[in-house]
Amino acid sequence: MKILIAGSGGREHAIAWKLSASPKVSKIYIAPGNGGTALEAKCKNLAIQADDVQALFKFAIEKDIDFTVVGPEVPLALGIVDFFEANGLKIFGPCQIAAQMEASKAFAKDVMTAAGVPTAKYKQFTRAAEAKHYINEQGVPIVVKADGLAAGKGVTVAHTMEEALHAVDDILVKKIFGMASSKVVIEQCLTGQELSYLVMTDGKTVIPLSSAQDHKAAYDGDKGPNTGGMGAYSPAPVLTDAQYAKVTDIVIRPVLKELARRGIDYKGILYAGLMVSETGEINVIEFNCRFGDPETQVMLPKMSSDLCEHFLAVIEDRLEGEKVTWHDGAVATVVLASGGYPAEYKTGLPITGIEEAEKDDVKVFHAGTTLKIIKPMQLEDTGDQDITELAEFAEDTDIDYPEQLVSAGGRVLNVTATGENLRSALDKIYKAIAKIHFDDMHYRKDIGHRAL
Ligand SMILES: Nc1ncnc2c1ncn2[C@@H]1O[C@H](COP(=O)(O)OP(=O)(O)O)[C@@H](O)[C@H]1O
Ligand SMILES: [Mg+2]
Repeated sequence: MKILIAGSGGREHAIAWKLSASPKVSKIYIAPGNGGTALEAKCKNLAIQADDVQALFKFAIEKDIDFTVVGPEVPLALGIVDFFEANGLKIFGPCQIAAQMEASKAFAKDVMTAAGVPTAKYKQFTRAAEAKHYINEQGVPIVVKADGLAAGKGVTVAHTMEEALHAVDDILVKKIFGMASSKVVIEQCLTGQELSYLVMTDGKTVIPLSSAQDHKAAYDGDKGPNTGGMGAYSPAPVLTDAQYAKVTDIVIRPVLKELARRGIDYKGILYAGLMVSETGEINVIEFNCRFGDPETQVMLPKMSSDLCEHFLAVIEDRLEGEKVTWHDGAVATVVLASGGYPAEYKTGLPITGIEEAEKDDVKVFHAGTTLKIIKPMQLEDTGDQDITELAEFAEDTDIDYPEQLVSAGGRVLNVTATGENLRSALDKIYKAIAKIHFDDMHYRKDIGHRAL
């Protein structure tokens, strides 16, 4: 089978790596992929962006792709699934209106309320004055959220009145999130531990994936600014197995039923971000309509069954009877970030030591990396016409130029290992990290601390 994956992060590298292990899969194209997917078995990167739906579609038709997997939320919210399916192509992910579960926080809250799913008390507003009045009534701490997709930057957990009112102005007056700024959702502030609860569903059958917890804060001890995630581990023991199993009945099934009542068929991954209070009370913080990053980098190494089969079962509406199985033990991943992330950071930093690091039962998934081709003296850069022609001539030959792996994002690598338990997985990871180098490399040294 030939598969197309849209996306470029550690999540997509993990999906590509897992699919390449399937005997069913002969070729995987990743649009645009990264330095890690470029080197993975059976894989080839494409010069197509993950949200360029038309170009992805053209490629899938031309190459006779068997099915497409969508990594990030933006193409799902743009309706890539509707478009592909309407034109007879197979694709894994929810349709546009189902993806509203992530793309509109107000929509998700409305569905949860109608479905009786436990979630923080909230109100939605389009006018700043009314939103501020509500905040004044409720007091702090309070949570202010832009309604739409804001690349993880749309939420303020406000501990002062000033912060909360400022967040309302940013969203509704300054419209700093553009299209995502039309509404604001204001929520009661919950406390506890967060847990990622993902299921695979074809709309009828629900299969929960292995539990995972990530670390959002940039620095050790959960200090510092929020990031896309600095590490993750699976399983996450914050819930007992019995409690975990119940989440499908408390959260997922009522939501799918409410969506179905509205005529919406949800297929793909449904990801509930949960808050588990100290007394074990569960509330849903939000939904995502795709795999998590970096949770996927621990969930897929934990999976022992064939992901390609599971994707097909969902696409073809026959998930019932599908067996998803898991390895024993624990998987962890530690994110190596570029100094300064999540604020300003450098890119283009040469990375060394990955091969060494992978020798001892460790897998390095790439997040923000790229392979820079080192051409003879970088001739094009001189702007000299004759020399440029020379360089182009050289490009036409079969010469394999040396390539240098360089950083291309804030989160650069995800160093991942499986162990008998979380401790042994983390030991392998931190030993491997010592062999990897790029300038100003930054990572947390306490991943998994809550579970140890
Ligand atoms: N009601 C809430 N109470 C406490 N913390 C919250 C609440 N809602 C969100 N948060 C915090 O803010 C983070 C981001 O919010 P979330 O709704 O997941 O938005 P997104 O992931 O789209 O940025 C959560 O992971 C959580 O740490
Ligand atoms: Mg979130």
